[in-house]
Amino acid sequence: MALQILSKIGYKNIAALVRKEHQIEVAISLATDVIFVNELGVQNKPLNKQKFDFVLDTVGGEIASVLIPQISYGGCMSMCGNAGGIKLTSTVLPFILRGINLLGIDSVNVPIKDRGYIWEKIANEWNISQTTLISEISLEELPQTIEAIKNGHHSGRTIIKY
Ligand SMILES: NC(=O)c1ccc[n+]([C@@H]2O[C@H](COP(=O)([O-])OP(=O)(O)OC[C@H]3O[C@@H](n4cnc5c(N)ncnc54)[C@H](OP(=O)(O)O)[C@@H]3O)[C@@H](O)[C@H]2O)c1
Repeated sequence: MALQILSKIGYKNIAALVRKEHQIEVAISLATDVIFVNELGVQNKPLNKQKFDFVLDTVGGEIASVLIPQISYGGCMSMCGNAGGIKLTSTVLPFILRGINLLGIDSVNVPIKDRGYIWEKIANEWNISQTTLISEISLEELPQTIEAIKNGHHSGRTIIKY
């Protein structure tokens, strides 16, 4: 969704981070560059080559930790997820020498007024329904889809026809 919104509102030079072959096709349709997770490198220096102005992190853990030293001078990273772990390792150097910012995103306790603002944008200005991967299944097909989710082969949104 982040890629879809950024692409829709006109951002260029978007790099999408993927870790599975089947994600490349979707990523390439929305981003200018596709990076495989194993190309990110390891976190072996407090400051690394400056590659990204803004990082939208949904994973946390090691991925987020590797990316912090690669954020360009004056850049930012937003964090909303912990799918890859809750631990974050960093030094203060990217913050005090490059002036980067880390923005925490919560979607659980957001006041209804702010939710309304975002939902309105998603429904209208950022309308991304044209590029959203949507499939419909019957209730009987649900176990197969759940299995695909569990095995990491599922993409997009699946609607159950009832
Ligand atoms: N801040 C909040 O208030 C809030 C509220 C709800 C959810 N969350 C968090 O927001 C994140 C995104 O939610 P979602 O519903 O979009 O989750 P999701 O559909 O499960 O997506 C998680 C993403 O993280 C990737 N991922 C998982 N483990 C990884 C690892 N070890 N290394 C690299 N990538 C990994 C997955 O990659 P693959 O597609 O390759 O499997 C997938 O793209 C989750 O971490 C969730 O816990 C936060």
